[in-house]
Amino acid sequence: MLKNRSLIDPSDFTREEFREIFDLGHQIVANPEKYSKSCEGKILATLFYEPSTRTRLSFETAMLRLGGQVIGFSEAASSSTAKGESIADTLRTVECYADIAAMRHPKEGAPRLASHYIHMPLINAGDGGHQHPTQTLTDILTIERLRGNVENKTYGFCGDLKFGRTVHSLIKFLSNYEGVRFILISPEELRVPEYIREEVIKKKGIPFEEVDQMEPYMGQLDFLYMTRVQRERFFNEEDYIRLKDRFILDKEKMSYARPDTYILHPLPRVNEISTEVDDDPRAQYFQQAKNGMYVRMALILKLLGIY
Ligand code: CP
Repeated sequence: MLKNRSLIDPSDFTREEFREIFDLGHQIVANPEKYSKSCEGKILATLFYEPSTRTRLSFETAMLRLGGQVIGFSEAASSSTAKGESIADTLRTVECYADIAAMRHPKEGAPRLASHYIHMPLINAGDGGHQHPTQTLTDILTIERLRGNVENKTYGFCGDLKFGRTVHSLIKFLSNYEGVRFILISPEELRVPEYIREEVIKKKGIPFEEVDQMEPYMGQLDFLYMTRVQRERFFNEEDYIRLKDRFILDKEKMSYARPDTYILHPLPRVNEISTEVDDDPRAQYFQQAKNGMYVRMALILKLLGIY
């Protein structure tokens, strides 16, 4: 039963509960009109303390396409946070106005803390370098639409695996499935955090390699998940400049990939995928962004108990 639950971390829901969301997501893709009045009279609050294009706009579009309405703010400076209000007081207030909320915050753990002060469902829309569970919903719906299921596949993750919260959430999710294998491609300084390596990947017995080259592994991958080097999480600009262009996927590197290797990216992109790759049918990152809207429609419907 997902009604009135919050989604803060991929471990908050069971496999069966996620299955309900994906099944509904696929049904919405097939027939979005059917759901166009499902949320009439309901209000979603989007509380974004950090910049966003896809997550905020896809949440808002999702609610509007369900017939509901949206309130919120897109930066802390335009809310009473700028006057010193606590997260707890902001959330308690928003709960007076909205039925469900999505929150992005630069501090790891902020959405979890906020969820303790309210009764309405709260969705973590990204907390610092920690987790981004609704990007994972987006990624999984995309993987299922392209290849049917997530099991028995090799997933390459490339770029900033240290600060990339989308990577952490997707690895955490995929580690619950049979036959998955990870190739983790990054500079040494940007490898996955220890808690992901030790408490998720190793604990679940997932085969994995940590490597610092892309080309030799391209032919092994079912999916290559590219990521941006997260400038905003670096303490030192020099380190960012040194590492930012270490991996750039271009046509030449794509020539090493199989015809059925799909390229995903949570976006935004900076330089890590050359625009010359965009027309390759294996490049699925813009369709992935669209799927994010459909799966967020499914999540809203489930957490409000409407489906
Ligand atoms: N993928 C993602 O979270 O994008 P935004 O930062 O634009 O929301």
